[in-house]
Amino acid sequence: MKSIHTLSLALAALLLAMPGQAAEPVKFGDALHKKFHHDRCIQCHQFNSRKNNGRTYHSHRSRYLCDNCHTFRLTGLPRGEWMAPHERMDYTGMDARDTCLLIKRNMGSGDARAKMTEHLLHDVRIRWALDNGMTPAGRMPAVPGGHAEWSRDVRAWIADGMLCE
Ligand code: HEC
Ligand code: HEC
Repeated sequence: MKSIHTLSLALAALLLAMPGQAAEPVKFGDALHKKFHHDRCIQCHQFNSRKNNGRTYHSHRSRYLCDNCHTFRLTGLPRGEWMAPHERMDYTGMDARDTCLLIKRNMGSGDARAKMTEHLLHDVRIRWALDNGMTPAGRMPAVPGGHAEWSRDVRAWIADGMLCE
């Protein structure tokens, strides 16, 4: 009988560990971390980073009028919007927890949820990375899943409290 008892305990443990039932809260690492670290986001976010050899230190050394090449016709972005962030927004190589903490910190004060929702769902550069990917050297692969999957994952993460871990 002992073995049957052990078996049922194991089965109960298995059921408890199964996703869906107990609805674990959504964390940054579940789906978003991988998307944040896609090349389309990283290539621009590390643009001004010396540590990560961003483009400003090689192929773009003397290119400052961004729109002259990354034109509206290519990117779909209004003039003045194709730009790279400050190097403190470079999250190259960071794990889920650190990436998440960084972006929350950079969001600044105010209604964090509203700001995060607004930025992640409507920022034109993010839209470009999700559904476009066009550069002066041709089209680069966009983030898999596009805006549809992205907005689902973003909304779920924000609704559950923007958990980093
Ligand atoms: C003289 C034309 C020219 C100018 C001006 C220019 N770029 Fe570029 N950019 C390119 C070309 C060509 C590529 C693709 C080759 C490369 O990576 O250097 C590129 C690629 C990029 C990429 C990589 C895109 C990706 O996802 O792979 C980023 C980011 C970028 N540029 C940002 C900028 C920013 C920010 C500026 C303004 C400070 C700028 N560029 C100005 C021509 C230009
Ligand atoms: C063409 C360059 C570019 C691309 C591509 C890009 N970003 Fe950004 N990102 C920026 C700039 C510039 C800012 C700062 C904007 C500001 O201060 O309003 C920024 C700000 C952010 C912020 C808010 C600041 C922070 O650290 O909290 C987040 C989050 C963010 N980007 C995520 C992403 C994600 C995710 C992707 C890819 C799906 C992406 N970005 C693609 C240029 C880019």
